[in-house]
Amino acid sequence: MVLFRFHLLFYLGVISFSFYSNASVVQDAKAFKSINLVAPDASIRASFMAFGATVTNLWVKDKKGEFRDIILGFDNHTLYQTQTDGHPYFGPVVGRYANRIRNGTFTIPISKDATGPNKFFVPRNENNLDSLHGGTDGFDQRIWETTKVSSNSVTFTLLDPDGMEGFPGTVITTVTYILESQATWKISMDAIATQKTPIMLSGHHYWNLEAYQESQDLVGHHAQFQSSKFIGTDGHLIPTGQLLDVQNTPLDFRKAKSIGASIPATTGEQFCGTGCVGFDNCWVFDEVDEKKAAFSMWSVNSGIKVSISTNQPALQVYTCNSIFNNTNPIPRKTTQGGAQNVYTDHSCVVIEAESIIDAINNPEFGADQIYGPGRPYKWESSYVFSNI
Ligand SMILES: *[C@@H]1O[C@H](CO)[C@@H](O)[C@H](O)[C@H]1NC(C)=O
Ligand SMILES: *[C@@H]1O[C@H](CO)[C@@H](O)[C@H](O)[C@H]1NC(C)=O
Ligand SMILES: *[C@@H]1O[C@H](CO)[C@@H](O)[C@H](O)[C@H]1NC(C)=O
Repeated sequence: MVLFRFHLLFYLGVISFSFYSNASVVQDAKAFKSINLVAPDASIRASFMAFGATVTNLWVKDKKGEFRDIILGFDNHTLYQTQTDGHPYFGPVVGRYANRIRNGTFTIPISKDATGPNKFFVPRNENNLDSLHGGTDGFDQRIWETTKVSSNSVTFTLLDPDGMEGFPGTVITTVTYILESQATWKISMDAIATQKTPIMLSGHHYWNLEAYQESQDLVGHHAQFQSSKFIGTDGHLIPTGQLLDVQNTPLDFRKAKSIGASIPATTGEQFCGTGCVGFDNCWVFDEVDEKKAAFSMWSVNSGIKVSISTNQPALQVYTCNSIFNNTNPIPRKTTQGGAQNVYTDHSCVVIEAESIIDAINNPEFGADQIYGPGRPYKWESSYVFSNI
């Protein structure tokens, strides 16, 4: 308890300046500036920015030893703030509560469909039906304080005030990105809260392990992970409270298979909602063991493989089912073919290690996502890149 108070005051002191002064143009410009890191053995390089605590570029070697930037984003960093129409959430930390909250309502203590006392209302920023990624002004749209930088690591801190977006209590989040030798990217996210509040963070990274060089789809992308259950969702991707079996469905990745080749079978609304084709699902890992890779994905074309280990119990996979909008297409980065090309549907994949989605409205999932004094939040994942 004493330790908790000390840390809280320390962080409040560190970031009080930027919080109380209005985000000026100068601060904005600084927030979009690249912070370039490299691992001690130069096996991995990446760029980050304080806006959204975002990863904007990440380079690893392909099977020929050439570096490729395998994370999607914008060359023009101000688009991370202005492209809110068809908002892709390219590379940030999403919070205070990632994914969806049914009707934007919940209670503390939690109850099924927010039927208890202490009810909270957060913005229904998706279809006026649910709250997505922390509401209208989620953690991805905030200017984080850069509290520590070295040649291979950066730490960002965010103070999310009591009542912001309707959530109770002040939350202070610290995110550290570290590039280590042997092409390893480590992420840790720690949060403390002054009152009981739901917290669910994730890293919202879009991958194309080919950097769009050999193909423009996901057929060459294969994945393997041990999950025999997934969260049942309705036509709007809101969890129904059911835990379903992957057996005999396109969601069975217990044996390695092509992601792209599995997409045509995902036409029912249980995969990515009504009228959608592709994956946008939350799988529950059969086992949580930070020391083992829980998820791996590779491209048979570039030979780049990523293996993810995490302390999180679940995984969201989204196959860019609706990233392409004909009237507002997103230009590709120079490192991925340039602005004469656009990001197209089913050409990329978002991988989010996280807790069980909307568990705050589904007590049957048994996931305690209420944090506060005496219960800090911790998210840790490690991404190891290799060649096949
Ligand atoms: C970046 O995008 C902004 C719109 O958000 C635009 O005003 C600006 O001109 C663009 N910068 C460049 C260099 O294209
Ligand atoms: C759904 O949200 C609306 C708007 O915040 C609120 O008025 C309504 O009471 C909520 N319904 C339920 C069932 O919680
Ligand atoms: C596509 O972009 C236009 C213009 O920004 C926007 O009005 C429209 O809602 C978008 N369509 C979808 C399906 O998101």
